Amino acid sequence: MQTKNKGADTMCLRVENHVILEVDNNVPLVQITVDGKMIAAKEGEPILAALLANGIKINRYTLKKQEPRGLFCGIGQCTDCAMVVDGKPNVRTCITPVRDGMVVETQNGLHKEVERK
Ligand code: FES
Repeated sequence: MQTKNKGADTMCLRVENHVILEVDNNVPLVQITVDGKMIAAKEGEPILAALLANGIKINRYTLKKQEPRGLFCGIGQCTDCAMVVDGKPNVRTCITPVRDGMVVETQNGLHKEVERK
């Protein structure tokens, strides 16, 4: 079941109950900054999960066509979720846990080291 629009400080798209999976709703919340905006996240969850729970679906734009990219594989194998985290580019947000005070920014293109692989 999803909760909608509880307010800016609460998560609006988070699954709170699931018929198969156990959902721990007692995990402490932390604050991260995404493109200058503070959002709430569950401590230790993947950055991408926090972004999606807050309605943020675009992680980066392709360099040539400026096309948006977001969740694709969800297991750290592609680069569609790459973002700049605490000043470091190409961080795969689907496998990187949230830490209180993180600064996350939408990325343009990919850092050259990733583009060569
Ligand atoms: S969605 Fe593919 S690496 Fe994150």
